[in-house]
Amino acid sequence: MEFDVAVLPGDGIGPEVIAQALKVLQTVGEKFGHSFHLHDGLIGGVAIDTLGTALSDETLKMCRQCDAVLLGAVGGSKWDDPQAKIHPEDGLLALRKGLALFANLRPIKVFPMLVDSTNLKPEVIKGVDLVVVRELTGGLYFGQPKKQWQTPEGRQAVDTMAYSEMEIERILRVGFELALNRRKKLISVDKANVLQSSRLWRQIAIEISADYPDVELQHMLVDACAMRFIQRPADLDVLVTENMFGDILTDEASMLAGSMGMLPSASLAGVPRGRTFGMYEPIHGSAPSRAGQNLANPIATILSVAMMLRYSFALETESQTIENAVLAILEQGYRTYDIMSEGKIRVGTKEMGDLIAQKVRG
Ligand code: IPM
Ligand code: MG
Repeated sequence: MEFDVAVLPGDGIGPEVIAQALKVLQTVGEKFGHSFHLHDGLIGGVAIDTLGTALSDETLKMCRQCDAVLLGAVGGSKWDDPQAKIHPEDGLLALRKGLALFANLRPIKVFPMLVDSTNLKPEVIKGVDLVVVRELTGGLYFGQPKKQWQTPEGRQAVDTMAYSEMEIERILRVGFELALNRRKKLISVDKANVLQSSRLWRQIAIEISADYPDVELQHMLVDACAMRFIQRPADLDVLVTENMFGDILTDEASMLAGSMGMLPSASLAGVPRGRTFGMYEPIHGSAPSRAGQNLANPIATILSVAMMLRYSFALETESQTIENAVLAILEQGYRTYDIMSEGKIRVGTKEMGDLIAQKVRG
């Protein structure tokens, strides 16, 4: 089959990890007889420097014409000045909104061979296999009003957590559908003891659950949820939550896996079913201090390609081939710096990509 993929490497280590992910993608193409046509675009700091905007209309249009988007990372200290008019992150937010990618899937899986390479006790994180479904185009990130202004008493600022019924319903349905194919348990995370938007969220969750009699729905307050992630994470399966809550919880959850360098993500424009348009990116940032040194762990981006094959191309076998190759290479003891431990074989970004591509080739 033929597929068009928009490729936005971005800043810092973005281009390096993307290069390895593309190598693995092309290897899948050769092995299974698919053609992946790549279309390059600029996003983030590099787009600000060359085009004066973090996301150009042309890039957005190009992404819309493709079957999926693969993104590296955006940002860096060079563009960090809070006074600056545009920030690299604006490009990412505009892309999410512009492509209507409302459902962000962030699976957190602890690889058995890495249970000793985190700060947490192995018995706590053993068996962790959960997915956070983060609402990505609404909530506190996008609600209006959103501004800073001057008053006679001093400066003021406001952000707004706003949700419509439609926005809440569609993200909850993604959660329920995923739960159906997993442990049939859905945790809806909110702050309904304080926030009106959360009370509506909880009410709609209860209403929608009638359509999913096989899924057990549980509500959890976001602060309690943060605690549960550290306390008994292996009990958690599918969680669904507001944009900002999901942002915070997934950074916390990523520490269960030892390194952010291991974690992929998918941002989808619909309930995953057949071929769903989406954008795929590692959950880590651009790590400017690691850039250009062949250090970065490309596994998160490679696993993001596996998610792309699954959700946007409906190529489940191909997807699993990549996931199994990653497992096999870790099993053989190869490690990038971030997951290195005694007695293992230290490799760089490119070597890790080569090893996984070779394994995919079989
Ligand atoms: C993430 C990141 C982004 C977010 C930033 C870079 C805007 O932290 O994808 O989690 O806050 O959504
Ligand atoms: Mg984040």
